[in-house]
Amino acid sequence: MAISNWGSHFSRITLFIAGFLAFTSFPAEAAVKQYQFDIQVKNVSRLCHAKPIVTVNGRFPGPTIYVREGDRVIVNVTNHAKYNMSIHWHGLKQYRNGWADGPAYITQCPIQTGNSYSYDFNVTGQRGTLWWHAHILWLRATVYGAIVIMPKQGTPYPFPQPNMEQIVILGEWWNTDVEEIVKQGTKMGLPPNMSDAHTINGKPGPLFPCSEKHTFAMEVESGKTYLLRIINAALNDELFFAISGHNFTVVEVDAVYTKPFTTQAILIAPGQTTNVLVQANQMPGRYFMAARPFMDAPLPIDNKTATGILQYKGIPNTVLPTLPQLPAPNDTTFALGYNKKLKSLNSAKFPANVPLKVDRKLFYTIGFGKDPCPTCINGTKLLASLNNISFVMPEIGLLQAHYFKTKGVFRTDFPDKPPTPFNYTGAPLTANLGTRHGTRLSKIAFNSTVELVLQDTNLLTVESHPFHLHGYNFFVVGTGIGNFDPVKDPAKFNLVDPVERNTVGVPTGGWTAIRFRADNPGVWFMHCHLELHTRWGLKVAFVVEDGPGADQTILPPPKDLPPC
Ligand code: C2O
Repeated sequence: MAISNWGSHFSRITLFIAGFLAFTSFPAEAAVKQYQFDIQVKNVSRLCHAKPIVTVNGRFPGPTIYVREGDRVIVNVTNHAKYNMSIHWHGLKQYRNGWADGPAYITQCPIQTGNSYSYDFNVTGQRGTLWWHAHILWLRATVYGAIVIMPKQGTPYPFPQPNMEQIVILGEWWNTDVEEIVKQGTKMGLPPNMSDAHTINGKPGPLFPCSEKHTFAMEVESGKTYLLRIINAALNDELFFAISGHNFTVVEVDAVYTKPFTTQAILIAPGQTTNVLVQANQMPGRYFMAARPFMDAPLPIDNKTATGILQYKGIPNTVLPTLPQLPAPNDTTFALGYNKKLKSLNSAKFPANVPLKVDRKLFYTIGFGKDPCPTCINGTKLLASLNNISFVMPEIGLLQAHYFKTKGVFRTDFPDKPPTPFNYTGAPLTANLGTRHGTRLSKIAFNSTVELVLQDTNLLTVESHPFHLHGYNFFVVGTGIGNFDPVKDPAKFNLVDPVERNTVGVPTGGWTAIRFRADNPGVWFMHCHLELHTRWGLKVAFVVEDGPGADQTILPPPKDLPPC
């Protein structure tokens, strides 16, 4: 108790100092931003249900990390909860420094109850909005927060300077204990119960019971411009987001500037971030902002709408707000059209360095399947695979095993293509495909250029999958519906200004092609950012070898790296 009191007190002070540093004029020198994250359980109530949740510093959503490009960040995480913990800094490249990346059993063993670990990393060559979240079990349901990377001192945004900024984190809420729900699902071999609500900054809004005081409101002044830093922290739902009567100008995704374009609504997948400008240029009043899922596969989903309020200064709370027009939940046309508009800014200052020549071509199929499970409800349990391999989590960190050359932890024979080609997106395939299980990784030569085509399949069902790569950004050079055609499709790739990001949606029954240069040595996780699918095995990791230079090798592990 004494320790945790001291902890939260301490964290408030460091937060204050870090916040202060972030917003004062300071010489354009790298600063060190320090944070204390105390993992602690707190009672929180939403939708007339109270329950204990795991939090950082008792806050939900957790504290925002403010840094400037070029800064060093040290976050000391102390675990006071009963669960093992690890935190991932989603989208930070962690050059040579996988030790600070965070996915449990991939780059570290988890932080056990009563222990601490300091994530120590530099923020280099990135600016914009990213986020952090727990990377073990489904704890990211409540353990998440924003990362704001300001451009270097004296460097303006490449778009009209907003008057104010606002973080908007979208999430999911379950009325009962999430880990219990997941356990139930696993026992039955079925998806766990879907969430009871979506949230905006942790609040579901007035369309849900007992939510008057759990409504996010943002006050605006007529004539001013606001930068919204929107983050999708939901576990399993791709979301549309819009504000009634107000257009958005998209200016950045996943901490990379884009060519600005105007849209009524955005589409954002779990793991992704989107910065938009909004002008308070409408009749002063109250306007709903709303988030609701996009789902164009024949699957059930929590389709409830989270709302918040955009409120012009001086307007009384008695004025009823109007709801925005969101695209229909299955509006594939909007989704494809929206994603097509996303392009890198590709200016002299922020060029898109797309690899034009490819050293290594990878083709991964995404599939569902079933394993026998006598104790499960249907006698089977659902699983997911890449190239018909369902990933098995190791018991020690893969990065340690790689660095210390520990034998028997993983193999590096993950295939570059599926075992047999088939009509990936034809009629639903229900045959038993003999899906293999294994901790099989793909080895990539240092500095080689990689092209990866992710192909959805109709194994059990088609569905869209937001894939996230750790340690890198990549360029989304192409996407399409149906089967990827290796002869015709590459001719249509955008190699000039494709969007650069860390998480990309593979469309339902379609494919997406990405390219990146493997210049960051380490072990880097790649997985579907739908927690449901990740857990079923829709994941793999790349072992990127060391380069020849002394500054092209994995850094030595920190002394406090948690033991398993
Ligand atoms: Cu945001 Cu591996 O995750």
